[in-house]
Amino acid sequence: MKLIFLGPPGAGKGTLAVKAVEILNVPHISTGAIFRAAIAAQSPLGLKVKAIIDSGRLVDDETTIELVKERLAQSDAQSGYILDGFPRTIPQAEALETFSKADKVVNFDIPDTAVVERLSGRRVCRNCGVNYHTIFNKPKQDGVCDACGGEIYTREDDKEEAVQKRLTVYREQTAPLIDYYRKKGLLVDVDASPQVDEVVNNFKKALDIN
Ligand code: AP5
Ligand code: MG
Ligand code: ZN
Repeated sequence: MKLIFLGPPGAGKGTLAVKAVEILNVPHISTGAIFRAAIAAQSPLGLKVKAIIDSGRLVDDETTIELVKERLAQSDAQSGYILDGFPRTIPQAEALETFSKADKVVNFDIPDTAVVERLSGRRVCRNCGVNYHTIFNKPKQDGVCDACGGEIYTREDDKEEAVQKRLTVYREQTAPLIDYYRKKGLLVDVDASPQVDEVVNNFKKALDIN
């Protein structure tokens, strides 16, 4: 199954994707995670995008589209994928259609207040990228990743100013994709506001997965 996860920052796309990967057995492709890995590695891509990402703005369409096109050409993505955080603009959505057709677009339905609460408490493993939350999803040991033992840190773009910027960018540039995909008959709404297990159930019901 080829899925797009569409929703505001902090809606829980990455968290649900980790669960959905186990259910569907397809790769989780997060453009944000690819950019963060490039930043950590100080690669040319990482150096180019660091300031943009830290401030909560979008990386340019050309760079992002090229990155996804290359990733989707790899063998593990041929029979399915979860695209998390792409497309984020109409031009990105139009470009995607020229090299891959998604089966469904999962729209994460959640109020802004919940999003701010989730982002302000989010912590991330520096090593494997798994998400935690200071209230909703604590690691067993403070500051240490359950999955790999890596160090847990606060993302630069989860600081308050960048969060507000990301929400504005979402409303202006990404939210129009909801109508875009609804008109194409691809959109599936999932209530993303309850706790994680319930969101997983909502997701399965919405996609008719047992
Ligand atoms: P990206 O990494 O995609 O960030 P984002 O869209 O802002 O989304 P987040 O990762 O912040 O939120 P999420 O929905 O994954 O929520 P999560 O599961 O972590 O992008 C980062 C940046 O990269 C962008 O700003 C941009 O600069 C650039 N970029 C990426 N893609 C791009 C593109 N296509 N074009 C241009 N630029 C691009 O959950 C959040 C928190 O809530 C966690 O702490 C989690 O533990 C907790 N939580 C999750 N679910 C629940 C729940 N059900 N109940 C309680 N807590 C929960
Ligand atoms: Mg994410
Ligand atoms: Zn880890």
